[in-house]
Amino acid sequence: MGDNNTSQKRPLRSARWFRKDDLPGFVHRSTLAAAGWSREDLMTRPIVGILNTWSDINPCNLNLRALAEEVRTGILEAGGIPFEVPMMSISENIIKPTSFPFRNLLAMEVEETLRGYPFDAVVLLGGCDKTQPALLMGAASARIPFVFLASGPATPRSATGGQLANATGVWRLVDQLRAGQSQCDFASFENSVMGTVGHCAEMGTASSMSAICEALGVALPGSSLVPATDRRRSHCAREAGRCSVRLANEGGPRPEEILDARAFDNAITLLCAVGGSTNVIIHLLALAGRVGVPLTLDRFDEIARRVPLIANVQPAGEHLTERLMTAGGVPALLKTLKPLLHLDARTVDGRTIGEIIETAEVVDPEVIRPLDRPVKPGETLVVVKGNLAPDGAVMKACAADPKLFRHRGRAVVFEDVQTIANRIDDPALCIDENSVLILRNAGPVGAAMPEWGMLPLPRKLLERGVRDMLRISDARMSGTAYGAAVLHVSPEAAVGGPLALVRDGDIIELDVPARRLELCVEPEELERRRQDWQPPPRTHVRGYRKLYDQHVEQAHLGCDFDFLRGADKETLPEGLFDGWVGGW
Ligand code: FES
Repeated sequence: MGDNNTSQKRPLRSARWFRKDDLPGFVHRSTLAAAGWSREDLMTRPIVGILNTWSDINPCNLNLRALAEEVRTGILEAGGIPFEVPMMSISENIIKPTSFPFRNLLAMEVEETLRGYPFDAVVLLGGCDKTQPALLMGAASARIPFVFLASGPATPRSATGGQLANATGVWRLVDQLRAGQSQCDFASFENSVMGTVGHCAEMGTASSMSAICEALGVALPGSSLVPATDRRRSHCAREAGRCSVRLANEGGPRPEEILDARAFDNAITLLCAVGGSTNVIIHLLALAGRVGVPLTLDRFDEIARRVPLIANVQPAGEHLTERLMTAGGVPALLKTLKPLLHLDARTVDGRTIGEIIETAEVVDPEVIRPLDRPVKPGETLVVVKGNLAPDGAVMKACAADPKLFRHRGRAVVFEDVQTIANRIDDPALCIDENSVLILRNAGPVGAAMPEWGMLPLPRKLLERGVRDMLRISDARMSGTAYGAAVLHVSPEAAVGGPLALVRDGDIIELDVPARRLELCVEPEELERRRQDWQPPPRTHVRGYRKLYDQHVEQAHLGCDFDFLRGADKETLPEGLFDGWVGGW
């Protein structure tokens, strides 16, 4: 092992545990002697955590156990002492009632684990949708230097008939089946759709989060899109391990020294360029709140107006993320976006974004398009406001039918997802292709914000060939999905937002170019309805879900807990209890 302290710029945090000849130092060292580490090791080498969201029940993260071994090797090679710690694994499609509320729970677990243990730096291993933002949020609040590594995209297989089986394909298949048109064997599709370990392989939420981690500067360049089953991902893991020891020895950069306003601008720019998931908007707002960056929905809209869709990947484009990687990956995307970026933004790699992209090349200009030849014209994401969404709502414009960008239609209101299931295919439902489907009580408080925002179209309209309609809700939408869905309406219906006041037959007007979303009902009538409105009963009386209901913020703020927002909330300084042993 090399000399680990030659480049040290800040004192090691772990020295408070291990480098004192007092009773706590004795207890801490003797405890870890049982794990194989000597007094000499603990008194001279940096301590690096590997926070791992691996689980058998989460196939998106299933390769993280093996990757953790590679990270461990990298840490040892660089002279650090690795300690792997299992974290909660949030399996998107399995966990009930929905994965979303558990993001904040995992973020709290990460923060407190990092605060409580003697880590000088940490490698964060995530994959499936909520594990990634939760790890970032917790580590940002703990202010421990970190490098993030994703599990990597899965490699989708072909179902019977040759149709590519991936998550975006599922949504198309469901519509085709409901319209009676698909020839695809549903069971074959089911067997193929999660064909390998790894997260969803289109630019859904997981791939979007991974990619923007490079733009944020918290993941190593080129690491995000390497497939989960590709041997090169092991190399990324070893390099992440080595990088974490460098961060430990140099005392940073710390999260708050990387995650500044420039980093968030760069991340939003990349998110727009790849037509990424609307869920990332919520996660970036929450992360910014953790580090005290005053990010708002308006900033997303400002940046989206100048960034074209240049990545030809699903769901907005044609290909999977593996093609994007072989076309040059995120470094090549960032190079193409160079005039729109803050090139002096710092990264965990030690270089600035500008320095990283110097050597990047676009290998396939059909997959990574030049700025003047985008995949589609217009903005990829838009933020709309109006009397139906005073604090804003979002729409993935690049995945919607542009014919609906200026639209007036009559509302068909669903109180909850069960009502949709009961009514949507009722032949007697009064609805046509110009109607506006409204789902409410699906926001952060109402239903923990599930991905119900892409409401199913009525079978009778699907059979007539209708494939998109305007849908409005306070829910989220899967990053793999598509359609004219106005999402994250804030404030939500369950806390008395105007969405709660819409009635069947009301005229709704969406004007995307003007960024307006209006409920065309007289103010006096809306006030009368408000007087009659009753909040839905809160159903959680104990435990985490009660805490969640009481403290979750609205979508335009990122749905974090109100007591976790802000960079300077911790009142007990680190080191207060260093002279004590907490137990034996
Ligand atoms: Fe886990 Fe898509 S289901 S990333």
